[in-house]
Amino acid sequence: MKLKKHYSDYMDHVRDVLRSPSIQRLEEFDQHMGTTRLRHSFNVSYRSYVLAKKLGWDSRAVARAGLMHDMFYYNFRDTDYTAREHCRIHPQIALENAKKNFELSGKESDIIRSHMWLTAKPRPGCKESYLVTMIDKYCAAQEFCKGVITKIRK
Ligand SMILES: [Fe+2]
Ligand SMILES: [Fe+2]
Repeated sequence: MKLKKHYSDYMDHVRDVLRSPSIQRLEEFDQHMGTTRLRHSFNVSYRSYVLAKKLGWDSRAVARAGLMHDMFYYNFRDTDYTAREHCRIHPQIALENAKKNFELSGKESDIIRSHMWLTAKPRPGCKESYLVTMIDKYCAAQEFCKGVITKIRK
């Protein structure tokens, strides 16, 4: 997949979100062993955008909601949540935080709310949500493997 060629169009859709302090703050949190929550969110957003554009789906919604899908400000290991509870709760927290900072379409809300589908409810309500939940899992697996390999090499 040629990722770079879509970058300028992508930025036209997300510039305001990406520059927002509420999103930039995600850089302070580790995610999947080797990356930050901001970088993970960018990976999900951009890869989802490129695929949605190719498919003729709502690429703006996946790009914007992809950046907001993990908009929570805690490290799971510092909380009393079990892994299962965290899977169930954080999409709702992210949605509340996203709504506080941005104007969201129905599709964008659904993408954030259902991105943990298969490990938690609810089921996606549109094809764009199915796309983002799959790309989220793909990126998480890739980031996690990269983190493990880096750790082994040290
Ligand atoms: Fe998540
Ligand atoms: Fe995620």
